[in-house]
Amino acid sequence: MKTIWVSTKRSERTYPVEIVSEWFSRVSRIISRDWKGSSVFIITDTNVRKLYGQRLLCGLLLRGIDTWLIDFPSGEQSKNADVVNILHSALLERGVRRDSVIVALGGGVVGDVAGYVAATVLRGITYIQVPTTLLAQVDSSVGGKVGIDHPLGKNLIGAFHQPSAVCIDPLLLRTLPEREYKSGLAEVVKIAAALDASFFKFLERNAAQIRKRNGRTLCNVIERSVRLKAAVAEKDEFETGLRKTLNLGHTLGHAFEAVSGYRLRHGEAVAAGLVAESRIARDMGLLSTKEFARLLHLMHALGLRMSLPRVKNKSEFLS
Ligand SMILES: NC(=O)c1ccc[n+]([C@@H]2O[C@H](COP(=O)([O-])OP(=O)(O)OC[C@H]3O[C@@H](n4cnc5c(N)ncnc54)[C@H](O)[C@@H]3O)[C@@H](O)[C@H]2O)c1
Ligand SMILES: [Zn+2]
Repeated sequence: MKTIWVSTKRSERTYPVEIVSEWFSRVSRIISRDWKGSSVFIITDTNVRKLYGQRLLCGLLLRGIDTWLIDFPSGEQSKNADVVNILHSALLERGVRRDSVIVALGGGVVGDVAGYVAATVLRGITYIQVPTTLLAQVDSSVGGKVGIDHPLGKNLIGAFHQPSAVCIDPLLLRTLPEREYKSGLAEVVKIAAALDASFFKFLERNAAQIRKRNGRTLCNVIERSVRLKAAVAEKDEFETGLRKTLNLGHTLGHAFEAVSGYRLRHGEAVAAGLVAESRIARDMGLLSTKEFARLLHLMHALGLRMSLPRVKNKSEFLS
């Protein structure tokens, strides 16, 4: 097991991000050690419920822990106020208390929604992130940014609410569909391009192994991404400066995602945003032609889609 500690000065919280090989026993152990007597709410989506949620529910119930399993339909369309309202009601009806704990078991959508519910119910309760997609393992589960979309734009409603622990098991990715895996790789490329030239080189050298989901290489990718993300989140918890570098590819990416009616995966939109924003940077003389070509080459080697989505409604895109 590898542990990366994240300490946030302003909210005075320190929490471990653990990269483990037995997520189930590790999460059960953390919960039975730290939350004796208080109820546990596993929040997940419909897909992850079937794959992993039932197992965690049974395991915790067998340990005598008062546990509830609550799901919502999978996908970005669920990142909204109606779903949050339903989850708030489900928790309140089941007697949530200030010492209850939420386990966010799923991808970035579950992490964002369950984290936001944890930040708001009873003015904030503890939660643990158990990310099950590559995107959530390398990016969204670390840093405490939680929230939902609004009809006027993506991620416009939310909070900064740090988890008590993050438990990452790369083996959970074995069931992840290829499209979702590639979506996560786009965030990996973003992290490397924004923060670490040697990590970028590592990705270039190991692209074939990464594409094949080679276990050792994948663990390396996850660990390096988490270390970089954690270091930035520590220095700039509330995104006033440095953390904005992690929005690389996201200004145009969010617009691509929204005008596609969220048919594009988040990482697919980020990949398109990376290409479009880097092209603008090259045209403005801020990025060399050689560096731009390296980015395109890496994305190609990882099997990421490079063509920009067709934008039918230009004014919607610009707004
Ligand atoms: N908070 C942050 O800092 C941050 C950072 C980056 C992205 N995000 C957000 O993350 C979201 C995207 O996350 P995502 O790509 O994980 O999407 P997602 O949560 O919708 O998961 C993608 C799909 O994979 C399924 N799935 C999850 N784990 C699985 C597994 N192990 N096996 C099989 N199927 C599995 C899900 O049910 C879903 O259908 C976006 O809303 C984005 O805004 C947040
Ligand atoms: Zn993102």
